[in-house]
Amino acid sequence: MARLKTAVLISGRGTNLQALIGACADPSFPAELCLVVSNRPDAEGLRRAGAAGIATRVIDHKGFADRRGFEAALDAALREARAEFICNAGFMRVLTEWFVERWRDRQINIHPSLLPVFPGLDTHARALAAGVRIAGCTAHFVRTEVDAGPIIAQAAVPVRPTDDEETLAARVLEAEHRIYPRALRLIAEGRVTVVDERVHIEGAAEPRGVLINPADS
Ligand code: GRF
Repeated sequence: MARLKTAVLISGRGTNLQALIGACADPSFPAELCLVVSNRPDAEGLRRAGAAGIATRVIDHKGFADRRGFEAALDAALREARAEFICNAGFMRVLTEWFVERWRDRQINIHPSLLPVFPGLDTHARALAAGVRIAGCTAHFVRTEVDAGPIIAQAAVPVRPTDDEETLAARVLEAEHRIYPRALRLIAEGRVTVVDERVHIEGAAEPRGVLINPADS
């Protein structure tokens, strides 16, 4: 079966991109990466893509008068690469309705919180300030509202009393690297549908057990 031609949008480090690269390296994975686009020329993720032999493009938003011009160039690059699907992976530009609707249900994002709580920036600081005992991450379809949209997959991790932003972010990031390729796989297998802004996954396995924090001592 043809693999889903997927582009990844990045702005920086690219560890989620790396997780997708790793997953797609398996020929039996149902998606392949056809392009990595960064809006920042210095994004470390560009090097990761280059090392994996994936085509890269820099489309610097600073070179455009407005969002629409930037998005038109982005859209043209995606079409040129024959991308069928987009994964945002640490992509730090807010997208307008024009772009979001053009790629509706064909664009997903990964966010380091259990949405709908803590959308936006400084997620981990806000989770720590709120004193939550369980944190996590969410893979979701992109909508015009930032960090909102039908939820495909989530992973939960415990918050430890000694955590600071860095340690919590690292624990959540590991979970991100597990669920993002999984979300892409489910979509590429054709098992994911969005009905009334909720995601249905055909044959989704039920997780076992409960994550409780504090655990029994
Ligand atoms: C991740 O925490 C992701 O959830 C958020 O931005 C971060 C990007 O990290 N949207 P990386 O570039 O994938 O390493």
